[in-house]
Amino acid sequence: MDAKLILNGSEYEFPVIVGTENEVGIDFTKLRSRTGAIGLDPGFGNTGSCTSSITFIDGEKGILRYRGYPIEEVAESASFEEVCFLLIFGHLPTPKELFAFRDQLTHHSMIHESLKNFFEDFPPTAHPMMILSAMVASLSAFYPRSVEPREVDLNIVRLLAKAKTIAAFSFKRSIGQPFVYPRNDLSYTENFLHMLFAVPAEPYIVSPVVDRALNLLLILHADHEQNCSTATVRVVGSSQANLFASVSAGISALWGPLHGGANQRVIEMLEQIRDDGMDYRKYVNLAKDKDSSFRLMGFGHRVYKNFDPRATILKKAADEMLAELGIDDPLLEIAKHLEEVALEDEYFLERKLYPNVDFYSGILYRAMGLPTDMFTVMFALGRLPGWIAQWKESREDPAARISRPRQIYLGEALRPFEPLDLRAKSPEGVPTEPELVGV
Ligand code: ACO
Repeated sequence: MDAKLILNGSEYEFPVIVGTENEVGIDFTKLRSRTGAIGLDPGFGNTGSCTSSITFIDGEKGILRYRGYPIEEVAESASFEEVCFLLIFGHLPTPKELFAFRDQLTHHSMIHESLKNFFEDFPPTAHPMMILSAMVASLSAFYPRSVEPREVDLNIVRLLAKAKTIAAFSFKRSIGQPFVYPRNDLSYTENFLHMLFAVPAEPYIVSPVVDRALNLLLILHADHEQNCSTATVRVVGSSQANLFASVSAGISALWGPLHGGANQRVIEMLEQIRDDGMDYRKYVNLAKDKDSSFRLMGFGHRVYKNFDPRATILKKAADEMLAELGIDDPLLEIAKHLEEVALEDEYFLERKLYPNVDFYSGILYRAMGLPTDMFTVMFALGRLPGWIAQWKESREDPAARISRPRQIYLGEALRPFEPLDLRAKSPEGVPTEPELVGV
């Protein structure tokens, strides 16, 4: 199969690549060298930046698969450690591999004591996403060797193991409690909950309900092909920046409210609706108003145009977890009513705007006892295996090149440069004031 392009009367043929699930891509690798033209696609809505074997999404049908396994089945039966292994190494672990992998994740959980001291110097108001990003980048100071495959594999384990410790320490710091060190007898998720919620004065028993919910949340966030933060990790990694630096950039990209930062904004929006008398129609209308910058947070997705399978699973999980814990959170009911009102509205139907993964996840984090500014950190921890798998895949791709998009320049045409005459005087003889730029 070939694609034909007619440009300025000349006809060019380009190869077509068809994916496992019959997705069709026109290979424009030689577009510029053959035609002199480039493709223009702001936001990359139509541009494939790579081929990948990690995650498949069909946004029209609401399908998400990790290495071929449906998200619904993975979410039902797997542990987060298995999903990390699957995404990063390409196959489900054997019992022996899983045992060894879990062991490594446990034994690399501690962070260097000097790194621990870094926490002291952030202002108490520092957002935990900022701390996570800075701390993950700082790991490259402690583990600078990352060339040999063995060194890279070790850094992968270190990153997965230590990120949860960093996340838990940033939470403890924000609430003014002493850090709690990891324990070697606990699983990945149990250990994380222990470091988040244990206090020195009393023993902490991990609730199986909370542990199950955390496992589910991490799995559902584990990878999502070429989203904003993953694309960032690949772009940074394409310059051969190390794993820690590349993932730190991904964390920063995730922080934005249009991406992972939406989970924090959803809860803030639901609280605003609650405090404003629960007038759902008012907020739906506001989201439709093109003169307002307000959007329904947790609604809409670049890829999903029917439903986000992760949101479907989380809505059910929120109901179950709150019931099991005996928590009555009015925000869950507010979220459901808001969804109902929005999904009856022509504006949302026409644009195919449905709840995304961020719409219900915050309700679960709240039930666990986490403050809103930790929500995106939880997302980042879940997304870690995806970032790592995508970074590794791009590093091992012999066809990979440094990411370097082009542009269409719309600025001034060539014009002569006229140097400023700094000796010019105003009529009063005082040197002319320079104009303040940007005022
Ligand atoms: N509320 C109101 N209108 C919306 C919303 C929303 N949440 N999302 C999209 N729209 C409208 C846009 O205004 C636009 O309308 P128009 O055609 O009249 O101009 C149309 O729907 C298409 O929206 P785009 O912004 O072009 O869609 P895009 O694919 O670029 O953006 C995004 C997707 C960023 C997720 C968007 O839907 C959004 O801002 N949602 C709210 C933030 C959010 O929940 N982000 C989390 C996404 S999931 C994740 O990253 C993990």
